[in-house]
Amino acid sequence: MTSLGNILEKAIHRLSAVGCDTPRLDAEVLLAHNLGRERTWLYLHPSDSLDENQEKQFEELLHRREQREPVAYIIGHKEFFGLEFQVNPHVLIPRPDTELLVETAIKWSIINNQLSIVNRKFTIVDVGTGSGCIAVALAKHTPDLSIIAVDTSPEALRLARLNAEQHAVADRITFLSGDLLELLLEPVDLIVSNPPYVSQPELAAAMPEVSKYEPRLALDGGPDGLEVIRRLLSQAREKLARGGSLLVEIGSGQGQVVFQLAHSYFPKADIQIKQDLAGLDRLLVVQM
Ligand SMILES: C[S@@+](CC[C@H](N)C(=O)[O-])C[C@H]1O[C@@H](n2cnc3c(N)ncnc32)[C@H](O)[C@@H]1O
Repeated sequence: MTSLGNILEKAIHRLSAVGCDTPRLDAEVLLAHNLGRERTWLYLHPSDSLDENQEKQFEELLHRREQREPVAYIIGHKEFFGLEFQVNPHVLIPRPDTELLVETAIKWSIINNQLSIVNRKFTIVDVGTGSGCIAVALAKHTPDLSIIAVDTSPEALRLARLNAEQHAVADRITFLSGDLLELLLEPVDLIVSNPPYVSQPELAAAMPEVSKYEPRLALDGGPDGLEVIRRLLSQAREKLARGGSLLVEIGSGQGQVVFQLAHSYFPKADIQIKQDLAGLDRLLVVQM
């Protein structure tokens, strides 16, 4: 019988051969998932073996990964902001890059609650909610916010609602199917969004994990990547309450152009581009 240690080594070799970026991590996650164990369990049981059924199932998982299907779609979940989210091919896989937006929104809510002289709930809208990772993380960390989550994809909204239910915050989030801010009846205090911002040439050149498997609707920002951001900024002028803010995730090469764009839509606002931990432009902040 082949030991888990040997099975892992062979799997790592196969994943490297097809160009996977993190073959060891992927092989360990898939094997641990197959066994219903934590990854650390594998390190403690290198001499164990798989039964026939487990071997067959692991081969299927490995084969999917060899086709460059993302691990998160294969195992069906992904961690974001310390919370587990279900994912499927209808939604973008949550990225660590997006945690900066959530952190900034949480700080915004703490500061605004402290400064507020009126005792009312602030309203926030998450535009393009996808798996619901931003809306749910905000609901978990900011008990005083009322949250609206919008997406054009009904499948994404279904999953976002499910994730909200699993984290027991579904009663705090209103889910809306619609185009950007169009369906908002009243101005909101904070608009947050991780919109599609990849340019079409970049998307064509992206890794197969992205270009073949993640939803185009979640990524495609048009020829220059800015189509959705432009429409969002334009609509936001009418949908942001006095003193409100807008946080939009952007691509690392878009800081300067998005700054100019935001300035043209909001000439009187305080506008900043924030960098992520890698020092790359990542977040547009507009404070009215
Ligand atoms: C980059 S994904 C972000 C998903 C999730 N918020 C996250 O951060 O992982 C963009 C999302 O916007 C949605 N979307 C695209 N165009 C939209 C539009 N015009 N109105 C509303 N949502 C849209 C897509 O369906 C997708 O779920």
